[in-house]
Amino acid sequence: MSKRFNSIFVMFAILVMAITPTSDAEYGDVLINNFSDAAGMRPVVFPHWFHRIRFSCKVCHADLGFKMEAGGNQINMLKIIDGEYCGACHNNEVAWSVENCDVCHTGKPGTKTQVHDSTASKLKVKPKAEKTGASQ
Ligand code: HEC
Ligand code: HEC
Ligand code: HEC
Repeated sequence: MSKRFNSIFVMFAILVMAITPTSDAEYGDVLINNFSDAAGMRPVVFPHWFHRIRFSCKVCHADLGFKMEAGGNQINMLKIIDGEYCGACHNNEVAWSVENCDVCHTGKPGTKTQVHDSTASKLKVKPKAEKTGASQ
């Protein structure tokens, strides 16, 4: 392969990387927006798969007490800085720390809490919700 072809390929690869949006949620990411919008911050995009391949479920869902429900944990920055939830790892020891606001707060403002692109969010007929006694 010629040097010229190689450098064209490299330039193409860089271009592709440059135009690929990195801040948008991908399939299976969890968007957490219980408080962010109201506080004027972008919602948090939690890349679940990125973490799942690195840690066992037990680390987060048993030891750290994350409930298995999008938006089911009342997470705020005070708790994170105190070492709870994301702060158990994002503390400059296991992983980079809280000063990197815009690595976590990358969601589009106004995006509701959800598992991004999950099948459940696309169903035309929603499964019957638990009986709440509400008339509908
Ligand atoms: C490791 C990921 C992470 C980093 C880094 C991070 N946050 Fe957060 N932050 C969260 C999560 C998760 C929530 C809960 C989101 C929700 O429910 O809306 C949150 C919530 C918030 C909230 C709303 C709740 C509250 O505590 O008032 C504000 C404001 C906020 N973050 C600001 C910041 C600022 C400013 C920084 C940088 C100094 C920062 N965050 C860095 C994960 C992070
Ligand atoms: C690094 C921590 C971490 C690991 C490891 C992890 N999870 Fe999660 N998981 C979370 C967080 C954070 C949420 C979102 C909670 C929230 O929004 O408050 C979540 C949400 C979930 C949900 C709810 C999604 C929904 O539909 O509402 C399920 C189910 C789940 N995890 C299963 C698993 C399984 C199974 C594993 C192991 C294969 C695993 N998780 C590994 C942190 C983790
Ligand atoms: C069990 C430890 C652990 C917990 C809990 C955890 N993280 Fe992470 N996270 C990591 C590690 C390790 C990395 C990789 C750090 C690196 O590449 O230097 C990471 C990377 C990330 C990244 C960057 C992913 C990428 O593509 O590079 C984001 C965003 C992130 N975490 C958000 C969060 C948020 C939000 C929470 C809480 C809801 C959280 N994390 C909880 C360990 C954790």
